[in-house]
Amino acid sequence: MSILKVARMGHPVLRDRARALDKSDIRSPLVQKLIDDMIDTMHEYNGVGLAAPQVHEGLRLFVGLLDDEPGPDSETTVVINPEIVPSSTVMEEGWEGCLSIPDIRGMVPRHVEITLKGLDRHGKAREHRLKNFAARVAQHETDHLDGVLFFDRMRSMATLTYLDEYTRYWVKDRDED
Ligand code: NI
Repeated sequence: MSILKVARMGHPVLRDRARALDKSDIRSPLVQKLIDDMIDTMHEYNGVGLAAPQVHEGLRLFVGLLDDEPGPDSETTVVINPEIVPSSTVMEEGWEGCLSIPDIRGMVPRHVEITLKGLDRHGKAREHRLKNFAARVAQHETDHLDGVLFFDRMRSMATLTYLDEYTRYWVKDRDED
């Protein structure tokens, strides 16, 4: 397993639409190794999610901690060809960051409750009912597969914040969520 280089904002791979994987792709040793490497890379950089285009692979695949409160014990979920189905029209603003946009945070509106459909790493169909932070992570990562970054979803740039200032002025707000 290895730590992969993460593409940063400005790299064209982050703006392309990624291609779907079929079952024989999923079973290939290359894709299985990519999944393992993506999990290692996400943990190495303390991310809560990582999409394949972020490691220069234009494939519809992401890994993420789909927990309401991700921590060291959270399980990593692998989602291939994800599809987001919002459970309602209710959206909520929340802080997001991105390994491809280092040290920046901003408030992004997302659906509060969704069903996430996709295949697992064995090609088996899965459905996850997600809400709050887990739903946010799934929407953020699925956006990466369509070349969409969280900046694109922000209603206003007024909350765009460097990590130091975020920690200094805004973390208290997040804890009250
Ligand atoms: Ni991201």
